[in-house]
Amino acid sequence: MKALVLSGGKGTRLRPLTHTMAKQLVPVGNRPILSYVMDHLQAAGIKEAGVVIAPETGEEVKNYLQDGSRWGLSVEYILQEQPLGLAHAVKTAAHFLEDSPFVMYLGDNLLGSGIEKAVRRFEETNMDGLIFLKRVSDPRAFGVAVLDEQGQLIKLVEKPKEPPSDLALVGVYLFSANIHDAISRIKPSWRGELEITDAIQTMMDMGHRVEGEVLEGWWLDTGKKDDILQANAVVLDEYAARSLAGDVDESSTVEGRVELGSGASVIRSVIRGPVVIGRNARIVDSFIGPFTSVGDDTIIQDSVIQHAVILEGAQVRGVKRVEDSLIGRNTQVIKGGNHSDALRLMIGDHCQVEV
Ligand code: TTP
Repeated sequence: MKALVLSGGKGTRLRPLTHTMAKQLVPVGNRPILSYVMDHLQAAGIKEAGVVIAPETGEEVKNYLQDGSRWGLSVEYILQEQPLGLAHAVKTAAHFLEDSPFVMYLGDNLLGSGIEKAVRRFEETNMDGLIFLKRVSDPRAFGVAVLDEQGQLIKLVEKPKEPPSDLALVGVYLFSANIHDAISRIKPSWRGELEITDAIQTMMDMGHRVEGEVLEGWWLDTGKKDDILQANAVVLDEYAARSLAGDVDESSTVEGRVELGSGASVIRSVIRGPVVIGRNARIVDSFIGPFTSVGDDTIIQDSVIQHAVILEGAQVRGVKRVEDSLIGRNTQVIKGGNHSDALRLMIGDHCQVEV
C-alpha cells in the first residue's frame, strides 16, 4: 500500500498567509497540519509516499518533509504544474503509483482518529474504493454520499445545492489501481477541475466495489481562517499536555495544560491552558487565554489574547483583546502611544482587519 499526499493547490481562501506559505504547513498547536497527516500514514504502517506539490510552495513542503525518514517513510515529490483537481493530481502521480493500491490523503485535512482500521479493512477485502464519510450540519460545500438502507453506497454528488444526505466526503480515500481507468473516462467539471468524486462515481458505474466508512471522531478541513482556529482549538483540547521547558517568573501564573517551549519566558503574566507557546517566545504583562497557539520567537507584551493562532516571529504589543485571530509570521500588531483614534496600518494583499 502506497500513500499519495496532496500538498499542492493554491489555498486562495487562506490568503494572505498562502501568498508566502503552503497552506498544509500552517501550524495548528504549533505543528504544521501536514505533520499530523504524516503521523497517520506512519501509524498505518505505510512506507512509501508520493507528495504532490505546487510550483509556488513545493520547495517549502520539501524542506519540511525532507526524505520522510522522520516518519519512517520514503517520500517522492510529484510536481503538479497547475491545480486542476484532485483526480488530476492522481493522474499526475500515475508513474509513482503504478498499479499499487494507495491511500490518498489531502494534506490540509485533520482527522481525530487514525486510518489503520480502514487500511486493514481495505486490504482484507477486494474493494476498489473505500471512502471516509462524516455527518456535517451543512453538506453543501462538500462531496456528498447517498447510502441505501443497508448502508451501501449508492451515489456521490459534488457540492449539491440541495444535499441528498448529511454525509460529506472526508479528504481521505483508499483506491485500487482501477481508479486510473475511471479517471481516464471523466471530463473536467464546470469549475475546470478533474473531480475525484466523478472518478469514484465512474468506478461505481463500472461495477467496481466502493464502500463508505462513517467516521466517528472529528474531521477538520482547514480551508479558511475560522477552520484553522477551530482545528487549533480541537488539537489543543486533544493533545496539549502540561510541560514547562521555559521560564516562568514568580509573578506569573500558568494554569492547566500549557506547553512552554525551551528558551521561552513568561513575565508578570497569566497563561490559562490549553495553550502552546513556542521556543524563545516572550510573554510580558499579558494574559494568554485558552485555545491559543503562540509560535517560536514571538513577543506578546501588555496584551490579552485568546482563541488565536500567532505564527513565529510575530509581535503583539499593547492590544487589550485579540480574539479569534490568525496572525502571520513576523507581523506586528501594536497599539500606538498617540492616544488618538487613528489607525496606522501597513497591511499586505488579501488581509482582513476587523476593528
Ligand atoms: P482545495 O482546498 O480543494 O484547494 P486549494 O488548496 O487550491 O484551496 P482554495 O480552494 O482555497 O484555493 O484542496 C484540497 C487539498 O488538495 C489541499 O491540500 C491542496 C490539494 N490539491 C492539490 O494538491 N492539487 C489540486 O489540483 C487541488 C485542487 C488541490
